[in-house]
Order: sequence, then structure tokens, then C-alpha cells
Amino acid sequence: MSDETTYLSELPAGAVEEHLEQTVALWGEGHPRDVRLRETLRELAAWGPQRLRLAGLIDGAGALVSSLERFGLRLQGPDGPVAAIGLGSIFTPEPERGRGLARRLIRLVMEEARVEGCSAVLLFSDIAPEYYEKLGFVRYPAQRWTVPLSSLPQAAPLETRPAADADIGRLLEWYESSFPASVLRPIRDLESWRAFRRKNSQSPDLVLLEDGVAVGYLNLARAPERLWINEYAPARLSAERVWATAARHGAEAGAAEMGGWVRLDPLPPAAALRDRPRAIPMIAPLDSCLELQGAVTHFDAIDHF
Ligand SMILES: CC(C)(COP(=O)(O)OP(=O)(O)OC[C@H]1O[C@@H](n2cnc3c(N)ncnc32)[C@H](O)[C@@H]1OP(=O)(O)O)[C@@H](O)C(=O)NCCC(=O)NCCS
Repeated sequence: MSDETTYLSELPAGAVEEHLEQTVALWGEGHPRDVRLRETLRELAAWGPQRLRLAGLIDGAGALVSSLERFGLRLQGPDGPVAAIGLGSIFTPEPERGRGLARRLIRLVMEEARVEGCSAVLLFSDIAPEYYEKLGFVRYPAQRWTVPLSSLPQAAPLETRPAADADIGRLLEWYESSFPASVLRPIRDLESWRAFRRKNSQSPDLVLLEDGVAVGYLNLARAPERLWINEYAPARLSAERVWATAARHGAEAGAAEMGGWVRLDPLPPAAALRDRPRAIPMIAPLDSCLELQGAVTHFDAIDHF
């Protein structure tokens, strides 16, 4: 084993396959290896390297010793939009751990992004956040709420229909207008909307209908025993009617509980809050363009990478 490593800003297909092999136990979600590889290569081609690529360190023998996914994105900050990157699937194979490889890789990716004009790096930590704090990341609130289905408001649920491709523009407008402009959050556009929906294809958007008129949207994800509200933008509706709609879907799915990530808007009255042990949003500034001190943030589960 050599201590020399080479940084690759964009992994070739063979190293992408190596990353998938290394991470299959953690993030493979039971998908057959060949299907996961085919889908990953298709997604990389569909997003393009500016929006999504894998970066990594190769040792002297050509083996992949640390790797990550790098998303190109924009963040809405209190003073306007800034270019940023997102980091996901950060992984070092067990025999290589504790040698500073992931730290080196993250620093190289961050420096490259800074040179390219990015102002910040976003990640969702699944490990103790102190690891990323040492690299300059600031952590933001990460709580989830749950409530027994029976204690959610049940009155006046809305009709729903699956969202079609032609709805995306409207859904995006509803999303963008559902919180104040100064809130620190990922900016979505049509391309990223489609890409993140492909990533979350098991939880399609539902258009909320009032007297047959589209008035907002809701995105639900089924988990055993529980129905998660991934996100919603009620436009001019009350949250109670969105919860009642979700409760009806939960009852149809046989779920006993409903839950979601805590957002800026009010929660159902009986909601129990817990800190999330995973998916903790963390942001590192790369320059002084983004005011992070005390920033209020908004992340929906769909933004998680
Ligand atoms: C986390 C991980 C990428 C670190 O890789 P690495 O190359 O060993 O990292 P480094 O050598 O730069 O850093 C080692 C440090 O990571 C710390 N670390 C490892 N796992 C950790 C965890 N779950 N929580 C917090 N810190 C952790 C080690 O304690 C060590 O700390 P030290 O520097 O104070 O001794 C690696 O342990 C891994 O692949 N884990 C499984 C996948 C994973 O959880 N990825 C992170 C998703 S957010």
C-alpha cells in the first residue's frame, strides 16, 4: 500500500463501478449490482458533470481509496443566489480509514469548487457532525416530527391526482413561493426538479385539487408503519387541509403514523419532535458571499443527497 494518492475530479466509469461496489452494503438498497451501475451511469449522463459527478483519490496501484458524489447547485442566501456544490456518498473502504483520505478528498473538492467560483458547500451528515465541523462546516437544525395518524386533522381532505410533466413549472412556483426569499436553501430549476424527482421516483408528487382546481402539491413517501410527508406547498391552502389529505392517504396505505422533517411552517398540534441522527444539513462557506451566521434554513427531504 502506497501513501501516494492522485485526485480525480471526475471518476471514469471503471472507478464509478468501484465506488458502487464499495458502497453497496450501505447505500445499495438491495438493488442488483448491474441495475445500480446501469442506473448510476445513466443518471451521470443525464445530469452532466457540472451537475453531478463522482470525485475520488486513487492510490499508487490504481485502487479507489476514497470517493464522493459532487452535485453542482445554487443556494438561495439572505443576499441572493450563490453558486455552490453538494457532497454525498462520502466513502473510504475500511482498510484505508483513519489515514486522512476523506479529509484530503473533501478539501481538494472544496478548493476546486472555490477556484470555480462557488461560495459554499452543502452536505447532509449521517455521522457525528464534529467530523465536518473540523472541515469548516456549520450545522443547521435537523429534527423530524411524528404523529399518530388518528390525531391528525381529518376534516375536508382534498382530492389529489398524480402530477404530470406539464405540472412541474407550477409545482416549482408553489415551492419557491412557500417560504420567505431570505431563507437559506437549495434553489430549484426545472432540470434539478426532474433530476431529484428521478432520484426519489418511489415518492411521486400529488397535485392537490379544490373543486377540481389545482391549488398546491404534496409529496409522500411510504415506509413500513409510517407515511412520510417529504414536502408540500399549499399555495393558498391551510396546512390543516394538507394534513387531512395526507392522513387520508396514510389510512389508505394502512399506516399508523405520519411524519416528516421539521420545516419553518407550523406542525400538527400533537406532533412529537426528535433530533434526526442522520441527514443533518451542514454548510461550509468558501468565501464571504454567503452569510451563514444565524441563517434560517429550509430543506425538504427531497433535497437530501
Ligand atoms: C466517514 C469516513 C468517510 C471517513 O473516512 P476516512 O478516510 O477514514 O476519514 P479521515 O481519515 O479523514 O478521518 C478519520 C476520522 O473520521 C472519524 N470518523 C469515522 N467515522 C466517524 C463517524 N461515524 N462519526 C464521526 N467521525 C467519524 C474518525 O474518528 C477519525 O477521527 P480523527 O481524525 O479525529 O482520528 C469513513 O469512515 C466511511 O467511509 N464511513 C462509512 C460511510 C459514511 O458514513 N460516510 C459519511 C456519510 S455522511
